[in-house]
Amino acid sequence: MKAAFSQFYKRTPEQRLAILAETLGLSETEQQELKRRAAQGDAPLLVENYLTTYQLPEGVAVNFRVNDHDYVVPMVTEEPSVIAAASNGAKQLAKAGGITATVRSRLLTGQVLLSEVKVYASIDDWVALHQNELLDVARQAHPSIVKRGGGPVSIRTRDLGEGFVSIDLTADVQAAMGANMMNTMLEAIAAVVQNKLHRATLFSILSNTGDRSLTTATVSVPVVQLAGDPEDAKQVAKRIAQASRVAQLDPMRAVTHNKGIMNGVDAVVMAMGNDWRAIESAAHAYAVQDGQYRGLSQWRLEDDQLTGTLTLPLPVGTVGGATKVLPLVGINQKIAQVHSPQDLMKLIAAVGLAQNFAAIKALVTSGIQQGHMKMQIRSLAMSVGATSLEVPALTAQLMPLSDPSEAHARQLLKQIRNNKEDHHAKR
Ligand code: MEV
Repeated sequence: MKAAFSQFYKRTPEQRLAILAETLGLSETEQQELKRRAAQGDAPLLVENYLTTYQLPEGVAVNFRVNDHDYVVPMVTEEPSVIAAASNGAKQLAKAGGITATVRSRLLTGQVLLSEVKVYASIDDWVALHQNELLDVARQAHPSIVKRGGGPVSIRTRDLGEGFVSIDLTADVQAAMGANMMNTMLEAIAAVVQNKLHRATLFSILSNTGDRSLTTATVSVPVVQLAGDPEDAKQVAKRIAQASRVAQLDPMRAVTHNKGIMNGVDAVVMAMGNDWRAIESAAHAYAVQDGQYRGLSQWRLEDDQLTGTLTLPLPVGTVGGATKVLPLVGINQKIAQVHSPQDLMKLIAAVGLAQNFAAIKALVTSGIQQGHMKMQIRSLAMSVGATSLEVPALTAQLMPLSDPSEAHARQLLKQIRNNKEDHHAKR
């Protein structure tokens, strides 16, 4: 097997498929499926050893009202219910006047790491003395970003203990995700540190902390809006606020609370061709900023208003990298009316807030399973091969069953098809 994979990276996707088929026994049908899904264009160049394209469904969440504008939001996810819940949450929040979203700043940070430093002050003093020179070096390393109005902004040092020192660079990367730009600037600074300070550096890399790209979404919902009956509405508001409080107190719940937020956040980040692992890492680090992992959003009940707030680090970009190469990103930006990273940051935070509202409202009222079951049964219907015309009938027949299995679904689909044939025969 080893020989077959030698120089694998030099093979064409068809050759790779043939090697895999032979060595791992892929059937003709499996090979056809991999071939059928292979993409044209530049997307295959994004990864190494390209074989095929793994597709995920994209839907659009509707009803979003953010900063007095209406939006539909493309979302890419494999999870049933997420888009329905986002749309439903957004509808209720729009009725309350909509979400307000603000971007605090849109900057990226990066680190040049030094090790075995005996006297921290000697590095700190040197960086302080040479900061203009170091910022200039960073600018020269990436002049195009400076022409576009961005570039390095500030530099500082931090003593990490045990002889490690971090030289932190903050930069304005304009509309890009900026990883390459930042790394280029950091390596240029590292070269100066090596040549002039005569210190070897350990590594240079951007930080995914995202704490200089914070975005806040807020909304105030009149309590009466939360249920038909005013007393019920008060109860729902109180229970949402309590559920939010639990996520502040209990890390075990906070993880799930935040997972619900990230259901929406990741789906938009993916639709926009951005690095969702970076956004996930940043969000969870932010959730534990005071030493305990807490819910990223908070819902408070004040008088007759339920007010929700979500702050997230969202270092996203709208140009370059995968955004340029993935064919759907440009179209998704158009659908979502995204013209800048700030537009995207606001929309993502708004989606996270609406997603969280829908999830915890469902949790403290009907429970999550009611809505989920319907979507899961739809997925079950599709997984046994029901066509879009057959799905509604099959779903309706599966819903009353307490624990419908694939076998049930197959059998019922067969019956639906037989009945249809009988019906046609009689006509
Ligand atoms: C499911 O994907 C997400 C929820 O668990 C989020 C939450 O519990 O808040 C419903």
